[in-house]
Amino acid sequence: MIKFDFSTYMKPFNNILDYQPKINKIINLLETGTSMNDWYDLGKCITPETLEDVLKTSDYIRSNCDVFLVIGVGGSSLGAKAVIDAFKPYFKKSNPEIIFLGSSLSSTYLEELIKYIDDKEVIINVISKSGTTFETNLYFEYLYNKLSKRYSAEELSKRIIVTTDAKEGSLRQLVNEKNYKSFVLPSNIGGRYSVMTVVGLLPIAVAGVDINEMIIGAKALNKQMAFDYAVIRDLLYKEDKKVESITIYEPKLLSLVESIKQVLAETQGKEGKGILPIASINTGDLHSLGQFYQDGSQILFETVINIECNNELVIPKYNKELDEINKIVANQVATSHMKNKVCSNFISLDALTPFNIGQLIYFFEIAAAAGAYLLEVEPFNQPGVNEYKKLVLKELDGNE
Ligand code: PA5
Repeated sequence: MIKFDFSTYMKPFNNILDYQPKINKIINLLETGTSMNDWYDLGKCITPETLEDVLKTSDYIRSNCDVFLVIGVGGSSLGAKAVIDAFKPYFKKSNPEIIFLGSSLSSTYLEELIKYIDDKEVIINVISKSGTTFETNLYFEYLYNKLSKRYSAEELSKRIIVTTDAKEGSLRQLVNEKNYKSFVLPSNIGGRYSVMTVVGLLPIAVAGVDINEMIIGAKALNKQMAFDYAVIRDLLYKEDKKVESITIYEPKLLSLVESIKQVLAETQGKEGKGILPIASINTGDLHSLGQFYQDGSQILFETVINIECNNELVIPKYNKELDEINKIVANQVATSHMKNKVCSNFISLDALTPFNIGQLIYFFEIAAAAGAYLLEVEPFNQPGVNEYKKLVLKELDGNE
């Protein structure tokens, strides 16, 4: 289970209860509103039939390739990467190896990737809700052409899996033409809220993570805690705390923090409002950003994600488990940062399990959406992102 401790926030703010009428309205909006909020009802994220298909397809992928290439960007890949990296051993390659492509335009990466997969069997899952994202289309078309030369049309058709809208976009057109295996991204769920749909669940299942447990964990979340967190963020924002560090003490959670940054920033950073989420990976960042937190301008607060127990490894020098030492450090850091009015809120996982990660992801999704409603901005669009997409396409092929 996950525990939430907001005590450092609560002390200065007695008015948290005053928010409850607003929160009740938000809950009502999330439960009954029509716009892009099917993710809130976990039963609408994936049907039992699609879940079965995802598990069957993931078995097929695991037995038929050396490299599983996931092409997508933003909400179409960050969630899956977050979970897969959280459970990936530090020093062992997975089988199949899962490689994400789409979140940079590095020619070096692409060149090295092409060489790397040259003698390996590959299956691609291209993921795009809109089917119009230029990074995704650029990479998919490039690799599609490469693989078309390596595999026969029949073989290729067993190696392409498309996750996209039911009707719209060039990817759906390709599926219709070539009859490729495809999954439908529910139309009422946006990219960054799609981890618990086929978008996230297929790659996660290929990695061997128990997706059923993730869903069970999310369903067991005490949602009120996520609403409290949204309220506390809103209160701090009004106190001029405009930056939030999502702070971790386990580097395996780094990709998870990337996806949390995305869900918070893309949901709330609008109309000149919002809190800028940043990441701190401790203890390394204590010797870097920590100076600013302890001594710099008082613009931020921290949300610490802590794993209580990974294993029982003991450090003889202190006659304590390393996990215990890590926790002591986290607590003492919070105490010392508080001297610079940097408060820390703790989210503790009793262990790193699919159940807890599912719960954590759903927690941040709810807090992000509720926080946007508190800021009176629309949670489920991303006009800022669309702005750059338009400019790039205009420059590349003269499209408006
Ligand atoms: O959360 C979002 O909606 C975005 O981050 C999208 O996921 C991202 O821009 C990719 O879009 P698409 O899935 O349409 O390719």
